[in-house]
Amino acid sequence: MSNQAYVRAHTNIALIKYWGKRDEIDFLPMNSSLSMTLDKLYTDTMVVFDDSFAQDSFYLNGEKQGEKETKKISKFLDLFREEKKTAMRARVESINHVPTAAGLASSASAFAALAGAANLALGLDLDPQPLSTFARRGSGSATRSIYGGFVEWDMGTCSDDSFAVPVDDASWDIGMVIVAVNQKAKEVSSRIGMKRTVETSPFYPAWVESAKKDIQDIKAAIAAKDFIRLGEITEANGMKMHGTMLGAEPPFSYWEPDSIVAIKTAQTLRKQGIPCYVTMDAGPNVKVLCRLSQAETIKQALLEHFTEDKLIITKPGKGIRELTAAERAVYNWND
Ligand code: DP6
Repeated sequence: MSNQAYVRAHTNIALIKYWGKRDEIDFLPMNSSLSMTLDKLYTDTMVVFDDSFAQDSFYLNGEKQGEKETKKISKFLDLFREEKKTAMRARVESINHVPTAAGLASSASAFAALAGAANLALGLDLDPQPLSTFARRGSGSATRSIYGGFVEWDMGTCSDDSFAVPVDDASWDIGMVIVAVNQKAKEVSSRIGMKRTVETSPFYPAWVESAKKDIQDIKAAIAAKDFIRLGEITEANGMKMHGTMLGAEPPFSYWEPDSIVAIKTAQTLRKQGIPCYVTMDAGPNVKVLCRLSQAETIKQALLEHFTEDKLIITKPGKGIRELTAAERAVYNWND
């Protein structure tokens, strides 16, 4: 058996957000969330386990990573080693396919790809659903990147049933225009931000309640292929999440002036009869959910305020998969 595998995972954007944990060790969320997997942004990861390795090592985009980053990876791989009952150390090499100016590097695709590669390399044979519970313990949003299209992360009742569920392959006229507002390091990480919000924001309980309704409503909109309703629920849910942060102590916000410029542009387009809806995560970038057939028109309007390299059009992406021999040959792996 070869102890090596190569896997691709795409990132995802939540339409109904995950914001807050009820268990910080097992990454159990306060509410179920729902996302769209993105075609354009992904991570390719190789992992090899070997008895001769004295320790784990981790390379990102060709560069050997330091102790802090490697420790995170080691801790994650321990879950798989435990499952396999092996002590073999590993070398991990990841390449992030995120346009350089975007600043959209994502833990979702990173941990989903690593989960998929570790599963294959160790011959664990985990199905996608249990595999998503492993990905979850690297980063909550990685749970959803196991599948393509629209994906629900069911909050579940315990570690074993808090997993991803594919909802729809999103093979209809849906797309996203990402406005990469800036790539500065975040002042408040999503992990710290959600913890502060849960602990201090008086708006938080209302957020959890309303997210429960939003997830039911958005699933109904997806089942009906009702794009307008899908967009309205998405935009409202994201705004509510950002509202909880303004109520935290101390308050914080990820918005930048340019985030508002992008939001206003989308609102203007809507008034002109082009349905498009915004959502934002733990950063200033704005994601505009739209009909794929209108993405180019939306990009043209955004070009009045943003340069070409800041705008990325993407269609829905697929779930994790093994790289083909041709895809593997593109890279200079350290083997
Ligand atoms: C705002 O998945 O990055 O993007 O579980 O602590 O690693 P950890 O957090 P992470 O948080 C994502 C928060 C969000 C909303 C979402 O993706 O659902």
